[in-house]
Amino acid sequence: MLISLSIIDPLSSRPNPLEKEMPSQNASSPMCTIRSLQKILEIIDAIPENTCGGPQPRFLYDLCLRCTGKGAIVEIGTDAGKSTIALAYAQQTRRGAPISTIDIVEHAEIETNLSRANVTVFVNRIVRSSREVAASWSDPIELLWIDGDHSYKGVCEDIESWADKILPGGFMAFHDYPAMGGKVLGPVGRAVYAKILSRPDLWRVIADRQAGSILVFEKMPSIVQMESGYAAKRFEKASFFLAGLRRRLTNKLRRHQ
Ligand SMILES: C[S@@+](CC[C@H](N)C(=O)[O-])C[C@H]1O[C@@H](n2cnc3c(N)ncnc32)[C@H](O)[C@@H]1O
Repeated sequence: MLISLSIIDPLSSRPNPLEKEMPSQNASSPMCTIRSLQKILEIIDAIPENTCGGPQPRFLYDLCLRCTGKGAIVEIGTDAGKSTIALAYAQQTRRGAPISTIDIVEHAEIETNLSRANVTVFVNRIVRSSREVAASWSDPIELLWIDGDHSYKGVCEDIESWADKILPGGFMAFHDYPAMGGKVLGPVGRAVYAKILSRPDLWRVIADRQAGSILVFEKMPSIVQMESGYAAKRFEKASFFLAGLRRRLTNKLRRHQ
C-alpha cells in the first residue's frame, strides 16, 4: 500500500546562479574555481555508484539553496559522495559554511570525487556511526539529509537521535521513500510513517518524490514558540501604547506648570 501525501509547497527549479565557471574566495581556502552547475551534475553522473542519481542531485542542490544559513547542513551516508557534492556545491555557490557528512565507513574514491568537483573545502567528513555523532552534536541543523542505514531500526534511530536538533523551518529529507519504483513501503517509509507522519503538529511534507524517491519534511514552529511569538507581539504593542501615553501625560503636565 502506498501512502499518498499531498505536496504543499513544491520545490521550484531555480536558475543556475553561476552561468560559467569562475574563481571564488572562501573562508578556508585560497582562490578556487567554482564549477558550473552543469559540470557538477556531469561529475556526479560519472560516479558509478547506483545511489543518488537522475534528477536527485539537482533537487538536493535546490533544497540546500532554500536554507537561510541559520543552521548546519548535515548528511548521513556519504558513500562515494554523489549527494555530498550536490549539497557542498550549493554551499559553495552561496558562500555558506561547509556541510557535515557522516559515514560509518570511508569510501576509497571519496576524496578524488570531492576534489574533482572542487568542493573539498566545503565538506567536513566524519567517519563514524551517525548515532555516535548525534550523541555529541550540539549545533542547530537547518537541513538533515538521511541516506545512511536503510533498515527500519536504523532509520528510526536516526530520526530519534537527530530530529530534535533541526531548527523550526528546517528540513529533514529522506532517500528511498519507498525504494525507487517500489509499490509498497520499504523500511524507510515504515520508519517515516511511525516517527514523522504521526507528528503532523511538528512536521509537514513539502516535497513527495518530486525527484526520485526523495521525501522532504519541514519542521513546524512548536505551539510554545508560536505562543511566545504571539505574546512577544502583544507585549511590544502594549509597550508602544504605554510609551505614547506617558509622552502625552508628560506634555500635558508641562503645559500646566
Ligand atoms: C546509500 S549509501 C549513501 C549514498 C550517498 N548519499 C550518495 O548520494 O551516493 C548509504 C551509506 O550509509 C552508510 N551507513 C550505513 N549505516 C550507517 C550508520 N549507522 N552511520 C553512518 N553511516 C552509515 C553506508 O556505509 C553507506 O555508505
